[in-house]
Amino acid sequence: MMKSSRLVHKIIEKPIEEQLVILSNEFPGKVAFSTSFGQEDQLLTDIIFKNNINIKVFSLDTGRLFEETYKVFQLTQQRYQKEIYTYFPDHEQVQNLLNKKGPYSFYESVDNRIECCNIRKVGPLTRALSGMDCWITGLRTEQSENRRNMSLINWDEKFNLYKFNPLKNWGLHNVLDYLKNNNVPYNSLHDKGFISIGCEPCTRAVKPGEDIRRGRWWWEHDTKKECGLHALS
Ligand code: ADX
Ligand code: SF4
Repeated sequence: MMKSSRLVHKIIEKPIEEQLVILSNEFPGKVAFSTSFGQEDQLLTDIIFKNNINIKVFSLDTGRLFEETYKVFQLTQQRYQKEIYTYFPDHEQVQNLLNKKGPYSFYESVDNRIECCNIRKVGPLTRALSGMDCWITGLRTEQSENRRNMSLINWDEKFNLYKFNPLKNWGLHNVLDYLKNNNVPYNSLHDKGFISIGCEPCTRAVKPGEDIRRGRWWWEHDTKKECGLHALS
């Protein structure tokens, strides 16, 4: 297994397209990018598809996404004419959850919320990443307290692969400038005060200047608001 530090050395200070190409050559056919169709992810999708980089682009369809998210999914497929692989939760697990606890169990307790995220997100992510050597995300340090200490590239113990966060140090305005300058399709909810967009029942708009993560699982106060996709530092 290669050391993260060797990979860092190879990609550091390189433009983002080049970083993605280097990794796709380092792990041919074994690099995957997860997109939620949010602003950061649309930027990465644009770079990957425009430059024909050999990276599998996939999304986790939790079954509870916003209509607007499916629309940007559709627009993105139409625009680039490339495959976006979708991973859906295990239907028996979803059925059992709904039979036992109903469709809104996640509002009742943190444990219930984590149970739902495990079924609808973590399970499908585990399938999507199986056999992969490198996982690319749109995470940025600025997004939350938990993400402040993340690395550009690190070994992910949970999924046993390298995790690369090329937008680590990007500010939101840099991301937005890129989308505008390149006319990249984006989720129309961003125009309505939504910044970080997840599942419909668990996401709401934030006020200007308000912490981005306040829009996610807003009814939880004392927890680190992550859903199990990204390990906490
Ligand atoms: S979350 O953990 O709180 O849901 P967030 O919405 O900030 O994550 O997105 C961070 C990164 O996680 C995205 O850039 C993307 O790589 C990945 N991600 C989040 N949700 C999904 C999803 N539904 N499908 C695929 N990737 C996702
Ligand atoms: Fe379930 Fe909400 Fe987690 Fe989506 S964000 S998987 S609806 S608890």
